[in-house]
Amino acid sequence: MDQKQARLDYKEPNYFQEDVELYFNLHEDYCDVLCRTNLRQRVSGSSELFLDGKELELLEIKLDEKVLSPDQYQTTTEGLQLNGLQNKHQLEIKTRIFPAKNKSLSGLYKTSDFYCTQNEAEGFRRITYFLDRPDNLAGYICHIEADKNKYPVLLSNGDCINKKDLEAGRHLVSWRDPFNKPCYLFALVAGDLGKIQSSYKTKSGKNVNLEIYAEEKYLGRLDFAMTALKDSMKWDEDRFGLEYDLGTYMIVVSDDFNSGAMENKGLNIFNSKFVLASPETATEDNYYMIQSVIGHEYFHNYSGNRVTCRDWFQLSLKEGFTVFRDQEFTSDLNSRPVKRIEDVKSLRQLQFPEDAGPNSHPVRPDYVQSIDNFYSATIYEKGAELIRMLHTLIGEEKFQQGSKAYFEKYDGMAVTCEDFVASMEEASGLDLSQFRLWYSQSGTPTVEVTKSWDSTSKTLTLSFTQNTPATNDQKEKNNLMIPCRLGFINKKGETASPMQLPPELTKMDAGDFLFVLTQKNQDLKIEFDEEIIPSLFRSFSAPIYLKSNLNGKERALLAESDRDAFNRAEALEGILESHLMSIYEGKPVDASALSLLNSFLMDYEKDPSFTDLALTAPDLGYLILKKDQWDFDRLQSSHQKLKQQMAEAMSENLESIYLRLSRKTENKTGLKYKGEKSLQNKLLSYLQIGAEDKAIPYAKEQYKKSKDMTNTMGALSVLRQSQNFKPCENAFVDFKTKWREDRLVINNYIRLVAAGASHCKQEFLEELLKEDFFTMTNPNNLYSLFAAFGRNLLAFHWNYEWSYDFLWKNIVEIDSFNPQVAARIASNIESWTRLGESRVSKMKQVLEETKKQKLSKNLDEIVNNNLRLLVK
Ligand code: BES
Ligand code: ZN
Repeated sequence: MDQKQARLDYKEPNYFQEDVELYFNLHEDYCDVLCRTNLRQRVSGSSELFLDGKELELLEIKLDEKVLSPDQYQTTTEGLQLNGLQNKHQLEIKTRIFPAKNKSLSGLYKTSDFYCTQNEAEGFRRITYFLDRPDNLAGYICHIEADKNKYPVLLSNGDCINKKDLEAGRHLVSWRDPFNKPCYLFALVAGDLGKIQSSYKTKSGKNVNLEIYAEEKYLGRLDFAMTALKDSMKWDEDRFGLEYDLGTYMIVVSDDFNSGAMENKGLNIFNSKFVLASPETATEDNYYMIQSVIGHEYFHNYSGNRVTCRDWFQLSLKEGFTVFRDQEFTSDLNSRPVKRIEDVKSLRQLQFPEDAGPNSHPVRPDYVQSIDNFYSATIYEKGAELIRMLHTLIGEEKFQQGSKAYFEKYDGMAVTCEDFVASMEEASGLDLSQFRLWYSQSGTPTVEVTKSWDSTSKTLTLSFTQNTPATNDQKEKNNLMIPCRLGFINKKGETASPMQLPPELTKMDAGDFLFVLTQKNQDLKIEFDEEIIPSLFRSFSAPIYLKSNLNGKERALLAESDRDAFNRAEALEGILESHLMSIYEGKPVDASALSLLNSFLMDYEKDPSFTDLALTAPDLGYLILKKDQWDFDRLQSSHQKLKQQMAEAMSENLESIYLRLSRKTENKTGLKYKGEKSLQNKLLSYLQIGAEDKAIPYAKEQYKKSKDMTNTMGALSVLRQSQNFKPCENAFVDFKTKWREDRLVINNYIRLVAAGASHCKQEFLEELLKEDFFTMTNPNNLYSLFAAFGRNLLAFHWNYEWSYDFLWKNIVEIDSFNPQVAARIASNIESWTRLGESRVSKMKQVLEETKKQKLSKNLDEIVNNNLRLLVK
């Protein structure tokens, strides 16, 4: 079994590998790579150097221009060992690689007839023997030679410095990147690609050339991404004072891509899913995501590229910070409260289960078997929450000062999470020693708040208690520093202010107050001239589970009149959740508690997106974390009952508002209509739950009339939700026939059929696998089928005697050619221990079977994590 690496074992490499010069000679069946670098001693007295390398055919090594004989070095499956080195050398290595055979989509590979690279985290070692680690920063020159006809476009990082035609129809293009970088940011693209072009003038007046490259058939779907790129450039100047630093910014679109997108210096490569958009092919939600992903990769140019990570344990240094930056970008360009509600929903759906399940790990992990497994919701989303808490604790102004100091001090360096926190500490003067525990401690804390009102002394007492339960990776937990953003309202729903500010409370922006919890138990006493209701953890000021003793009436008041939109939606969600729990526990329920839904609905015109989010039924992936054991069938039927009662509570207005919205959004597209369109489709889905005979004709009509993907998908989802659904019904066959040649859009079909509802029959999935558009080596197809299915609790755990075998069997198959994707899919399987003995024993049996197969270190790590859950 593979050994885990430990964060505390970090050692500098013995040598720097500098001034990298690469020659790629691309042929149909192979590519020869020459890598010339200067070695310079870094750790004095050393004479040995190990260079990473994987699946390489070594052709030749030269040290200071002399060819080495095989007895002067050693190669293993992991790399190349050089001994007897002096202070300085020139090293030249020639390798042969086979990009067309590379189905791992890591390193250099071929996709739809063009070449591209993916080197983060450890792909560069599949190109040449190299110090494949983020703390070796070097300048790069890259020469690419290929057939000019087949591969007219040859790209790499930085500026193009030379182009020339060669004999036999070949050509050579050379690039130079003036900024030092680690090899994971190196990129190469070669192919017959078209492009769209534009330019951006930076705030200091520099003109930047912007280019987006894609296959010819996709050129009509790139304009939105170009706009988003300019918006990102402008936003980073305005908010963070950061200006683009090269003359050209290029983006390349690929259909075969393991992750979402990659921030290679000056040459981003994007999964087509996060860049291609036209009204006919993309939903408004897709547009919204594209804007955020374009922003995310652009913002990495500073948070990641100019200042990078010392080692991969520090991954959240760049990812958490950059997610925070893209969240802020989206908030500033669209609606801040809506973005916050969305982000918290996804944190709870993705990160909370991760932290409570087999793959729990801290934001800065201590042990890693395969770094690929740590591109996780914890590193990303929880990491972003840590940055957000820092922002809450010190405020925008100090935060910007800290960030500016960080980028200045560490420009061109590879640093740690600690360096970032220290910059914020210095800028703010706040002692962050306890805050640092958030980086090293996994698990989601629960904060219990008991409020009491003493009418004689007119004092509100809030008693806080924090507790973080043990997680699969870490048993001992400490008390954390937890910022609580607070507001107060009186019984009429008006904002109330304390008579005088107790020392533990500080005033914040927007009239809120900040209380910082640092101990296990803390009481906060505040005097008011009337009884008040606290609005706790406004805007979700810390990534915790909140339990409070607010009663139904008080929650309803918050839902109606809290000034903090997040907490309005939150109060409603709390009401829905306790309603669902009552149904589950067979307690009598008061349906009138749901009448609030109707007042939210009636109010939709103010902000349709907000209404849409507020009317969402509690997510099962999150809800399931609130109890150790559930009865699966009862959970399923209670959830269904809750949705029926929600539909019932809104029944008077569902149809009329649906119709009003569908008339209004007909033929309308663009982010401006995102809220109205999702609300419209949400209402249609409630209509289906309440009155299927009414809703189905509407859905069919909507499908027929629709010219855009949002309304098309909305209609199909509602049809999919029906008990009687079969993939052979007209609308589904029509959709499939229309899009089967489109490698991107067909994923919508796969996802709908595979995970559209709780009733996912074995034959649906098996038929999907046989479709000629389904490609086992295409990550988007795999995620749409297997990851979506595995994450859909009701579908995946329903027919478990079959589904557990089915999913794991396919994961093992995928693992044989693409370990990253296999492990990513496997990491979606996480809350299975909560669903009773029969499911646990089936899963145990399947895991033990899986463990006996030959697994990659990626998948092996995930399987072991799951097995460890069973050891109590
Ligand atoms: N640096 C990552 C790309 C990456 C992901 C490389 C996984 C290696 C493994 C990139 O900046 C990124 O974070 N992409 C996200 C999308 C983003 C909007 C959160 C992704 O690919 O999921
Ligand atoms: Zn990123």
